[in-house]
Amino acid sequence: MAPLPSISISKPADPKKGVAVVYTDESLGLGPAAAAIDKAAGGAITRAIKAASFKGAAMGTLDIVAPGGVELDRIVLVGMGKMAEMKEYDWVRLGGVSMGQLVGAKATAASVHLERADGEAVDADQAADVGMGMKLRAYKFDKYKTAKDKDDKPKAARITIHVECAGDAKKAWGEREGVADGAILARDLVNEPANVLGTEEFAQAAKDLEKVGVKVEILDEKDMAKLGMRSLLAVGQGSVRPSKMAIMRWNGGKAKQQPIAFVGKGVVFDTGGISIKPAASMEDMKGDMGGAGAVTGLMHALAARKAKANVVGVIGLVENMPDANAQRPGDIVTAMSGKTIEVLNTDAEGRMVLADALWYTQETFKPAFMINLATLTGAIIVALGSQNAGLFSNNDELSERLIAAGLATGEPLWRMPLSKEYDKLIEAKNADIKNTGGRNAGSITAAQFLQHFVNDVPWAHLDIAGTAMSSPENDINKSWASGYGVRLLDRLVRDHYEG
Ligand code: BES
Ligand code: MN
Ligand code: ZN
Repeated sequence: MAPLPSISISKPADPKKGVAVVYTDESLGLGPAAAAIDKAAGGAITRAIKAASFKGAAMGTLDIVAPGGVELDRIVLVGMGKMAEMKEYDWVRLGGVSMGQLVGAKATAASVHLERADGEAVDADQAADVGMGMKLRAYKFDKYKTAKDKDDKPKAARITIHVECAGDAKKAWGEREGVADGAILARDLVNEPANVLGTEEFAQAAKDLEKVGVKVEILDEKDMAKLGMRSLLAVGQGSVRPSKMAIMRWNGGKAKQQPIAFVGKGVVFDTGGISIKPAASMEDMKGDMGGAGAVTGLMHALAARKAKANVVGVIGLVENMPDANAQRPGDIVTAMSGKTIEVLNTDAEGRMVLADALWYTQETFKPAFMINLATLTGAIIVALGSQNAGLFSNNDELSERLIAAGLATGEPLWRMPLSKEYDKLIEAKNADIKNTGGRNAGSITAAQFLQHFVNDVPWAHLDIAGTAMSSPENDINKSWASGYGVRLLDRLVRDHYEG
């Protein structure tokens, strides 16, 4: 694994060696730190701006290599564009873009002189967001690339962010780094191939959260059979990997505070089962545990930053394989809730896993709300691409809060409809409901199916098939898995459910 950078925060100071990152905006002015470096380097920054016709556009960069008069290997100038247009998420992107220049230069030491050219102060949250963007951008899934020789192996960069409000920024970064680590954990889980990360290995990864103070319980097939989870178990019955359920609890709130709950689809590999998928891109189905990955990453994030909330994370871990013992199209199973499901397509397995995970979560924990994440349908990719995840909810307030958190974190959601009319599409001939509603409104009928296993608890379903993986690279992610959902839901908790 390419080592992640170590990032620390301190007061403004002169750069020593390595790379100095400095900032400007559309005005092309320089703050005090950048101006001092410019002066020491004989005006190298000012001249470079002119020579390159650099405009200071947001996220634009200018690289000044081996400037004279200073011991620096290079100076990286990054633009902030129009300051009035810098939104919260832009500070995360700014960190990502800064890191991108350091990665490109194979830099092992850098001082980031975080200041605004207009003289306004950079606040602690913004500094922490820059740090988070840097760490997320540095992430690479390259553990299976064997380096030709040891010298090829990249070293961890040591980065210092120099900012006026260093004291507060240090505290904010202490928390924010936990969130970045949670997103990185989610990425690792999604990127890992299914031969390495099966159901037991995933359950172990959940168990490992005990190190950060999360209480973890693992249910095995016997436990789940006793609870009546025939729907979830039916999906896993064709795999040699035993189905598992991990229940993670972070109790950072007051003892009597009602918990909030997150539920994840954890299909470690989805072949489609007997309704087998075509070969093209089937390898992507190693990421069909993206919902469970996000829930696990979120639990890490909340525990690492010691969130003042009581939170439950439940993930259903199964593998969907064709096999002599696999479930068949036409099978009828009884879910934990007592509802019967006619299995018309074994590739519509995620909803069968969630049916029992959702029911179990709401009955066991009586949460204040329940949010599930799932790489549930190809149809959501047709509808929304990878720019928005699909949001389905029975609650307007929860939806609005989620949408706001999505905009703030750059993990946006688009609300899709739910209504009784769609239920007609999943009425079954021989059971209470069937697990597919055909091609039309595929994401909606999947969500309707889930709603059959939700009572009147405020609930939201996030269909992250388009956003959790294989989404286009951006300023803060260069890996196949994005870790989508961790920052979004951490933010939801931070804004509304703490203290
Ligand atoms: N895991 C898939 C959905 C998916 C597709 C996720 C592409 C990520 C990328 C899910 O289990 C599935 O197979 N859904 C089917 C449902 C259909 C059989 C009703 C689909 O979307 O085609
Ligand atoms: Mn499937
Ligand atoms: Zn699936």
